Amino acid sequence: MRIGIIGAGHIGGTAAKLFARAGHDVAVSNSREPGSLDPLVSSIGPRAKATTPADAATFGDVVLLAIPYRKMDQLPPAERFAGKIVVDAMNPYSAAGRVTDLGESTSSEEVAKRLPGSRVVKAFNTMGWKTLETGGRSSSKDRLAVFVAGDDAAAKATVAKLIEEIGFAALDTGSLRDGGRRQQPGSPIYGRPMTASEGSEILRRRP
Ligand SMILES: NC(=O)c1ccc[n+]([C@@H]2O[C@H](COP(=O)([O-])OP(=O)(O)OC[C@H]3O[C@@H](n4cnc5c(N)ncnc54)[C@H](OP(=O)(O)O)[C@@H]3O)[C@@H](O)[C@H]2O)c1
Repeated sequence: MRIGIIGAGHIGGTAAKLFARAGHDVAVSNSREPGSLDPLVSSIGPRAKATTPADAATFGDVVLLAIPYRKMDQLPPAERFAGKIVVDAMNPYSAAGRVTDLGESTSSEEVAKRLPGSRVVKAFNTMGWKTLETGGRSSSKDRLAVFVAGDDAAAKATVAKLIEEIGFAALDTGSLRDGGRRQQPGSPIYGRPMTASEGSEILRRRP
């Protein structure tokens, strides 16, 4: 699969490494010129290249968003994402580190509004990047959970397969609204590593 990555810092850079290691081609991008990502590209190897964010969106069958949420308006035009599976790893923190009040909405629903025609799946937002980097397991026993939410079942299944390929267990939390709320900062499944069975138990107790 071809995976475009917009935002190649802690989460985007780590995910790029893991996806490439699993056999996918990745195009990484940041807010500067692509050459600034030469060290990351070299460390990943021949499955990686650096591009602009717009070209990363065009490149990917799947496009991972891993920039600060408050910079969402700086994403390439929505047309670039039409028909693509967009994985939203962003959390809605302000520059001061406070969670933004979105009222009835959730952050990935706001992403879906910004990118109409794309197939948004919320994933990789609850796990710290260090755990993502080192927490994958080849055995399916006791794998850590990566949660997924979305309204497009086929898109969610594709993202779940990617998660399994890099050594984690994909746990479905529901729709972009309900699952997105279950995955948001401050929720019981946010921000601490947990196995799939612990994650399922928490979701069962706190529907
Ligand atoms: N850190 C974590 O453990 C963690 C865990 C789960 C989710 N998240 C979420 O993931 C997102 C990224 O967090 P992070 O910790 O990876 O941040 P980070 O290390 O600061 O990396 C942010 C990346 O976004 C790029 N960027 C900023 N503005 C951009 C723009 N307009 N266009 C393209 N690229 C842009 C930056 O590029 P430059 O270097 O060129 O500025 C950098 O590569 C956040 O929304 C965060 O809430 C983080």
